[in-house]
Amino acid sequence: MKLWAGRFSKEVDGRVNDFNSSISFDSRMYRQDIAGSIAHATMLGEQNIIAPSESETIIKGLKSILSDLDSGKLAFDPEAEDIHMFIEAELTTRIGDAGKRLHTARSRNDQVALDIRLYLREAAEGLISQVKELIHSLCNQAEQHTETVMPGYTHLQRAQPITFGHHLMAYCQMLLRDISRLEDAKNRMNVMPLGSCALAGTTYPLNRERVAELLGFSSVTMNSLDGVSDRDFCIELAGAISILMMHLSRLSEEIILWCSWEFKFIELDDAFATGSSIMPQKKNPDITELVRGKTGRVYGDLNTLLTMMKGLPLAYNKDMQEDKEAVFDAVDTASLCLKTMIPMIDTMKPIPANMRWAAAKGFINATDAADYLARKGVPFRDAYKITGTLVAQCIEKDTTLEELPLEDYKALCVEFEEDIYQAISLETCVKGRTVVGGPAPERVKEQIAAVRAAISEE
Ligand code: ARG
Repeated sequence: MKLWAGRFSKEVDGRVNDFNSSISFDSRMYRQDIAGSIAHATMLGEQNIIAPSESETIIKGLKSILSDLDSGKLAFDPEAEDIHMFIEAELTTRIGDAGKRLHTARSRNDQVALDIRLYLREAAEGLISQVKELIHSLCNQAEQHTETVMPGYTHLQRAQPITFGHHLMAYCQMLLRDISRLEDAKNRMNVMPLGSCALAGTTYPLNRERVAELLGFSSVTMNSLDGVSDRDFCIELAGAISILMMHLSRLSEEIILWCSWEFKFIELDDAFATGSSIMPQKKNPDITELVRGKTGRVYGDLNTLLTMMKGLPLAYNKDMQEDKEAVFDAVDTASLCLKTMIPMIDTMKPIPANMRWAAAKGFINATDAADYLARKGVPFRDAYKITGTLVAQCIEKDTTLEELPLEDYKALCVEFEEDIYQAISLETCVKGRTVVGGPAPERVKEQIAAVRAAISEE
């Protein structure tokens, strides 16, 4: 029998019941639901809206349900409409009439708005600490490779010399922004909706601030219609997670490239790669491919939420029940990806010799050769043209700027001297890029220190 059965003359059709029910995916909010109910009952008792003794009985009952659910002694009833109904019905079974008073001045509409906020607030915290762990792993790898020269790319063409450490630290900057977005989402959702009731608030003398205080919210929602129909916080969190996934996916894509024989800049640990059922030589970077693939899935979750909300009149509509599977999937997917990527990054082995070899091949010091002439007073545009001609000559002779004889340099520009070789050595090129944010080893060490400080704050 439904808790709302009074108005109805028939039992709900079994198919409607299955279609309508959300217990299969909202049961994961049972702790939040119980915490919300305990806070609500506490306040109802304090305000004498229900007798303090009944409030105590309710709280005791809720605590016993919590411990039985935690221990597995009590199982969720798949026939229940949702987690809110399940717990309320169970409470009444356990404590009798007092249980029926819990829902005074409350609706499932504000209850669910509360539960999701509580759940996602914690989920955001969990993701933030996982992102910090990933940053930590990247910093540790970067620290080992502040002098490891590799080509930096644009258009996936070798462009200018950088170091592997500098490259990894770029991801730390993205991840720091992800943390700040997750924190923003968490702070903005930290508003307590109970008291909005179904949509129009209540005539009972609630103390909403007290409930907010009991549950650790920083404020209460200011409009009862918005309090129950706002799902911005789900969308914001899914948005922040989507951007995070985009970053994980870009890193994954690079790792996939770096593992290939065409690059071979890194070797993944055997425990973090997989084989082929037919090709015995294969060692595949499946984890990173899955992260790249799952990114699309999370974007789908964000789209589900945005589309689900776009046409809804105020206030609550049942469409909004679809919010949970989408936002939970985004959280679960990102968390799973991070959990697997962190040890993969920790254990991957960079191969500096291959990076150095690739760096020597792509004329990535051509800009430095042009800068050399510009420093000697040749206008940069002329210097650029002269160096371009030198590169063309090297390609024709199948050689590199480092190996081209000085006569060939001098034939194009008399300003070239023996010290050109020093000026275009890749090590000089990297070490000279001491601009703030640049790849010079001391600058990268500063980046690492700054990033580590940023994640240990709070
Ligand atoms: N299971 C519902 C949900 O997830 C709870 C709120 C239901 N409210 C209602 N009036 N039907 O959105």
